[in-house]
Amino acid sequence: MSAPVLTELLTGLDDLSVWPASTAPLPDGHLSVGGVSLADVADRFDTPAYVLDEDEVRARCRTYRAAFPDADVLYAAKAFLSRAMVRWIDEEGLGLDVCSAGELELAVMAGFPAARMVLHGNAKSPRDIETALRLGVGRIVVDSPSEIARIAALVGPGGRQKVLVRVVPGVSAGGHEKIRTGTDGQKFGLSLTDGSAQHAIARVLGQSQLELTGLHCHIGSQIADVKPYLVAVRRMVGLMARIKESHGVTFPELDMGGGHGVAYRPGESTLDLTALARRLGGELSASCAAAGLPVPRLAIEPGRAIAAPAGVAVYRVLAVKPTGSTMFVAVDGGM
Ligand SMILES: Cc1ncc(COP(=O)(O)O)c(C=O)c1O
Repeated sequence: MSAPVLTELLTGLDDLSVWPASTAPLPDGHLSVGGVSLADVADRFDTPAYVLDEDEVRARCRTYRAAFPDADVLYAAKAFLSRAMVRWIDEEGLGLDVCSAGELELAVMAGFPAARMVLHGNAKSPRDIETALRLGVGRIVVDSPSEIARIAALVGPGGRQKVLVRVVPGVSAGGHEKIRTGTDGQKFGLSLTDGSAQHAIARVLGQSQLELTGLHCHIGSQIADVKPYLVAVRRMVGLMARIKESHGVTFPELDMGGGHGVAYRPGESTLDLTALARRLGGELSASCAAAGLPVPRLAIEPGRAIAAPAGVAVYRVLAVKPTGSTMFVAVDGGM
C-alpha cells in the first residue's frame, strides 16, 4: 500500500493534511486514526503495520459513486487488498480490478461476485486465465497478442468470455517516468501509434470464444491534471470510430483506468474528481457525437485515491543517522 510513513512524524506533525481525515493527537503525544492509538496498534500487532480507516475508505468510495453516477467504478486492488477491504468495496457497490489469480481468489473467497471483476496483467499465466474462467470473472483485459489465442483456447468450444483490449493511446502522464503507462516503450498494453492495438482488436473479433465489449487504457498514476484524460478519451473514441468503419462494430464499454493523484506531502496537488467526472463525461459525449458513435458506458479504476489517503503504514524507527546535509531514519519496514 502507498501511504504516508512514520518518518513524516519527524517533519510534519504540525500538518496532518495528508494523514487520514480522522487523525488526531492524543494527550500522551501519540496519534490516533479512527479513534485508535497508533502506538497501541504497534504494541498489539507489532510493526510494520498498515492501518486503514474504514470510514474514510467507504467515504472515498461514495465520493466516486456520487461523482460518476453513470459509470462503473472499479477499485484497483493492487493499491491494497485484504478480506475486510473486499467487503467494504463490495458493500459500497464498486467493482474490482485484479491483476493475479491470487487477488481474484482472495476476493471471491471474501464473497465478492467475480462478475463484477476485471482481470488485468501484462503477463497472465495459464493459471491466472484458468482461475479467471473457472470463477467467472466479468472481463479479461487483453494486454498482448500472444494471449488472444491462449484465452480463446482455454475458454473452449461453445464458451464465450467478455474481454477488453488494453490500448496505449500515446499520452504521457503521471508522477514519475516509471508509472507513465500511456506511451510506447513500456510493457503494458497495445500501441495505437504502431497499429498493434488495431491488429489485436481485429484478431479478437475473429475469435468466436471472445466477446469484445470495449477498449481500456490506463495512462499512468499520480496524475493531478484532468487534461491527459481528455486527450486519451478523444484518441480512444477516434480508434473506436476507425474500428466501426473497418469492422462495422461499436463497443458498449470504455474503461479509462485509474491514476488519480493524491498528496504524499502537505501542499501537493490532487486530482479534482468532480472536474474529472464533468469534463471526461462531456468530452466522451462530444467526441462520440462528432464520430457518430453511441456513447459507451464509462468505467474507471481508481486504486491509490481510495486506499492511500485513508491509511498509514506504522513503523518503528531503528536508527537515526545524520550524514552531511541528510538525515537518514531507518525503519523496520525495509532496507
Ligand atoms: C490497469 C490499471 N488500472 C488501475 C490502476 C490504479 O492506478 P492508481 O492506483 O494510480 O489509481 C493501475 C495501477 O497500476 C493499473 O495498472
